[in-house]
This record gives sequence, structure tokens and C-alpha cells, in this order.
Amino acid sequence: MDNITVHQDNIPIYDIVFSDNFNSLLVLLNKQAISNKKLCIVTESNVATYYLDTLTNLITNNCLLLTSFIFKEGESSKNLDTVQELYEHLIINKFDRNDMLIALGGGVVGDLCGYTAATYLRGIDFIQVPTSLLSQVDSSVGGKTGVDFSSYKNMVGAFHMPKLVYMNTSVLDTLSDRQFISGMGEVIKYGVTFDKEFLNWICTNFDSILEKNHDSLAYIISKSCDWKRQIVEEDPTEKGIRGLLNFGHTLGHAVEKYMNFSLLHGECVAIGSVLSTIISY
Ligand code: GLY
Repeated sequence: MDNITVHQDNIPIYDIVFSDNFNSLLVLLNKQAISNKKLCIVTESNVATYYLDTLTNLITNNCLLLTSFIFKEGESSKNLDTVQELYEHLIINKFDRNDMLIALGGGVVGDLCGYTAATYLRGIDFIQVPTSLLSQVDSSVGGKTGVDFSSYKNMVGAFHMPKLVYMNTSVLDTLSDRQFISGMGEVIKYGVTFDKEFLNWICTNFDSILEKNHDSLAYIISKSCDWKRQIVEEDPTEKGIRGLLNFGHTLGHAVEKYMNFSLLHGECVAIGSVLSTIISY
């Protein structure tokens, strides 16, 4: 898979790097001058058991200080209370504007870590290391960050671009089938809204996608990221065409709230997409 560079006003802003391991992450972090920085890996309880040690061992002797902040997995943690705990962790460890956060996890981690990075000391750098299909094809790209407020989904947030998106596609091997299939809600969205040929390809190759065939996964992830790149380059702050990426989301968010967040985000997007299609038929 070729890497993708995301631009803003024709200026390259960050790279989306594809790999099937974490080996080249350190080289890329060194390009961010981490030897002079404190780093904090922000992750959740489930992802931490799989990948926190790997990342910690990779980075620990290469920066000024490496800390980790682990919160309870799930949408119920995506709120200002968790952000406040993270602010406190950063203050105790004397993080300043030169320092950097690493979001290791799915959409909840990326959104929450990104929002903290956008607001701590009026903005510090962060990078995305997405570990779910949903975050690899959608939420880690484009700089939308935020948390839920009361029962309102993504009510508080900011646009804040990552410095790097590092996708190790092999982490999808440890993803539950339910999480994996939920991510397909966002993949199918690109086919339905922008690319009939891609949608047909998904339908024809659905079995190999479900078997997590590496070539099929590589294709759907890079294709999705390239569509996302095109849209966010044209409309970074959702004044127009980026709104199309919310296909299925308005009704999906209503379902998510109605079900008291017991369904996964991608599942609700898929339900919302079907309902929107029926309504507009
Ligand atoms: N997830 C939709 C967007 O990033 O605009």
C-alpha cells in the first residue's frame, strides 16, 4: 500500500502510513524530533493489553519521558471527566507545548486524545495509531476530535490535525468479529456516497473481507483513506461536501442514543444508512 499525504491549501500536513507491523513507527517518530519531547500514550483497557507494551518498548529510550494514560474501554468513557483526568496526568508530568500525545486505539481513543491535544495549553501535537477498522478507515483521518456531553454524541470538540497517522493493519487480527463488521458500516459509506465501482467490489469480495484476507483489507483501507483524504482536503472543517461523510450518521446517532450506547457506532451508522436510503427512495 502506498502512503497517502493529506494536504491543506496545497501544503502537505501529515502522512497516513500503512504497514503490517510497528517497526517503522520509531523512525517516523524520530522525524518528529521526539528525543526532545515528553510523550504520553493514550489508550483504553482492552487495547492496552495487546499493544501498549510493544509501543512502550519501541519508544521508551528515545524520548525525554514516556508515560501512558489508560482509561476504561467503551463509549461511556468518551466524556469530559476522562479528559479532565488526562489533563491532570499531563500537568503532573509537566507536559508543555513542545510535547506530544499518541492515540493508540479505536475511535473513542482517537477522538478523546485528539480533543485533549487540541485544548491542553491551547493545543499540542498528537499522532494517531488506529487499531480498529472503523478508526483506520474514518475517524483517525481528517482531524475531527471530540467527546460526548451528557447524552449528546460528539457535542464538544475541535478540528485538530494529527502529525501522523500510522496504520498497522495486522492489529485487525485481534479485533472481535463484531467490532470488525461494525467498521464495515463506514467502508460501505464511501462506496454508496462516492464510488459505485468500489461498492460493487465490496459486494463481490465480501467473503474474503470477512475472512480478513490481508490483500482485501489493504485494498478497502487504502481506498477508504484516499476518499477521506480527497474530501477533507476540499472541505477540512465541514462547510460543504464533508457533510456527505455523515451519510447514515444523523439517524445512526439517534439510534445510538435511543439504545443508550449499547450498540457500536459502526452498527448504528449501518442502520442509519439503510434507514436514510429507504426514506429517500
Ligand atoms: N467521520 C466523518 C468525518 O470525519 O467527517
